[in-house]
Amino acid sequence: MLTRRNFLTAAVGAAAAAGLAACAKEDGKSSDSPGGGSKTLTLGFSQVGSESGWRTANSDSVKSAAKESGYTLKFSDAQQKQENQISAIRNYIAQKVDVIAFSPVVVTGWDAVLKEAKAAKIPVVLTDRSVETSDESLYVTLVGSDFTDEGRRAAKILEKVLDKAGHKGPVKIAQLEGTTGAAPAIERAKGFKEVMDADHADDWKIVVSQTGEFTRAGGKQVMAAFLQSNPDINVLYAHNDDMGLGAIQAIEAAGKKPGKDILIVTVDGVKDGFIAMSEGKINAIVECNPLLGPQLMDVVQKVKDGEKLERWIKTEESDFLQDQAKDALPSRKY
Ligand code: AHR
Repeated sequence: MLTRRNFLTAAVGAAAAAGLAACAKEDGKSSDSPGGGSKTLTLGFSQVGSESGWRTANSDSVKSAAKESGYTLKFSDAQQKQENQISAIRNYIAQKVDVIAFSPVVVTGWDAVLKEAKAAKIPVVLTDRSVETSDESLYVTLVGSDFTDEGRRAAKILEKVLDKAGHKGPVKIAQLEGTTGAAPAIERAKGFKEVMDADHADDWKIVVSQTGEFTRAGGKQVMAAFLQSNPDINVLYAHNDDMGLGAIQAIEAAGKKPGKDILIVTVDGVKDGFIAMSEGKINAIVECNPLLGPQLMDVVQKVKDGEKLERWIKTEESDFLQDQAKDALPSRKY
């Protein structure tokens, strides 16, 4: 069921996909060549940046899946700057690629460039993160996670963590937010708060909340400041593992024990997060799967073929508690 961001029906998405693919074929860019051989499909991909272990795994997945599919991949790293993504997309339009895919750094401010892609008859696929747009026909589909649900799952797993730790009394939560304005930052905060307000209005409180930009350095710096202003924090909810890992350094530097004095829940499930969890420093991880490459290539092929696509192709994910970390670690793929 589609529950996020005013998505239109699958039928509208299918029509957009088919229309754009048909237009691309009219350009002769994605149709079979007159000689009977297939022309290689060119995908322009604008990545957010390289801010986290998750992002590295995501970029590697896109690159290897494109190679595996035999597509020509034009890849650019926007270094967490929207203006860089916009100019990368404009470049792909100028180069007349067959399909553009991107993981938008923030949710707003894309309509103008997406209209340019539409005018050039180049279909756009969103991966990982969503956008807010006045015109849903400006992109074909989103391949990515349900971040609001990840926030809800983080709150539900915190209930288990508190229970296992035998915690009694008020729960004073520090929240390390992702990049301001980014879908995972907005939605992970929203989902967590939803559960907190519904089930824990009396005992849980977010006492401090600030962005750590999804980076380890940001997590460390902001957590050090949190500990100064609120030394009695007993829970950390970090919107990704990297900020959690940075925060662990700050907690240890302040003479406290991560995972004991401060219970920690993070999102992602990268290897370093699992290592910290197996060492008892993270209490639970909500998985967000970065290995979107194969699914993306499949979607790109379907767009090219004018196939019907859902507006949101969701990623399957799990949650992990500390006692599962050692067993799960060897099979982690990222
Ligand atoms: O958009 C996904 C998020 O972006 C990941 O959770 C985070 O690690 C990354 O930077």
